[in-house]
Amino acid sequence: MATADQVKALIRSHADGDDTRFYAVAMQVAAQAARSGHGKFAQELRELVDQVKARAKATEPARGPKPVPLAQPRGELAGLLTVGYPKTRVADMALPEVLGARLERVLTEQRERDRLREHGFSPMRKLLLVGPPGTGKTMTAAALAGELGLPLFSIQLDGLITKYMGETAAKLRLVFDAIQSTRGVYLFDEFDALGGERGSKNDVGEIRRVLNSFLQFLEQDDSDSIVLGATNHVGLLDRALFRRFDAVLEYSLPTEDIATRVMRARLALLDTSNIEWNAVAKAAEGLSHAEIAMACEQAAKNAILDHTTAVRDSELVAALAERRSTHA
Ligand SMILES: Nc1ncnc2c1ncn2[C@@H]1O[C@H](COP(=O)(O)OP(=O)(O)OP(=O)(O)O)[C@@H](O)[C@H]1O
Ligand SMILES: [Mg+2]
Repeated sequence: MATADQVKALIRSHADGDDTRFYAVAMQVAAQAARSGHGKFAQELRELVDQVKARAKATEPARGPKPVPLAQPRGELAGLLTVGYPKTRVADMALPEVLGARLERVLTEQRERDRLREHGFSPMRKLLLVGPPGTGKTMTAAALAGELGLPLFSIQLDGLITKYMGETAAKLRLVFDAIQSTRGVYLFDEFDALGGERGSKNDVGEIRRVLNSFLQFLEQDDSDSIVLGATNHVGLLDRALFRRFDAVLEYSLPTEDIATRVMRARLALLDTSNIEWNAVAKAAEGLSHAEIAMACEQAAKNAILDHTTAVRDSELVAALAERRSTHA
């Protein structure tokens, strides 16, 4: 029978309009049913999937081309921002309870922002995300955009600074004009490039200046957009930055429990009934969510290439060990 993870995967893929994933999960449920002796149910399920697929194919041209994105950066802005329309959800993330609750709070304040404003309050909208690589900072930006149905604009500060040293402040103004005019989630990734004391001695003055103008723009910004800064190195950041944000969210390497949730979600399409999660979670210790997810993908592909849908403990542990050996 379908596991709880499979039922959740079915509902989520339906909500996302992700037909490929929906059919894959349904076929997986059928395969599992067949293995556990429910041959008739398995057969019915396969026929049903075939019928629905055929019908979807027949009506496809009528659906027409995908809608064009609403907001595309033009001109000079195009070189500074990249835009995406993520479908990521907070529920796709394995988060410690406190962090999950804080993100939900941000979403609630955003959804109720008109009501808050009527009473003279502003919703939280300037957030600093801090934590080691691969722990979900960029994914959080996607999840906030996905939940609120907003475009996600990413600003690569690194490129912005090294390429346009003297002009960075002018470019920043362009970006903050966009923040004002187009509501979205704006992610200043690798924020430490701006906030840190990085660069050669000669650059420090320039970086200071840029940082100051960034802080001014951030302070003056009273738009409806969500502005996120993400960084690995909290130690490098200037204290003055912290005050300009409504909240600082801290990300950390996963606990065993969270590592297990990442793996279960990643392997939801496969048969994991033989996996000893406790033992595998121990093998994942010290790895980031991203590394664990990559190890799961490798183990899953191994299973598929071996013509089985069952993932073995040993494969997963070996894939995790391989990640550990390349761990920085
Ligand atoms: N909390 C999480 N729950 C589930 N999957 C996660 C989580 N964090 C990271 N991942 C997985 O790892 C991938 C990379 O994570 P992400 O890009 O968000 O890391 P990051 O914190 O932004 O890292 P960096 O500091 O290197 O930019 C995600 O696309 C996702 O597959
Ligand atoms: Mg990132």
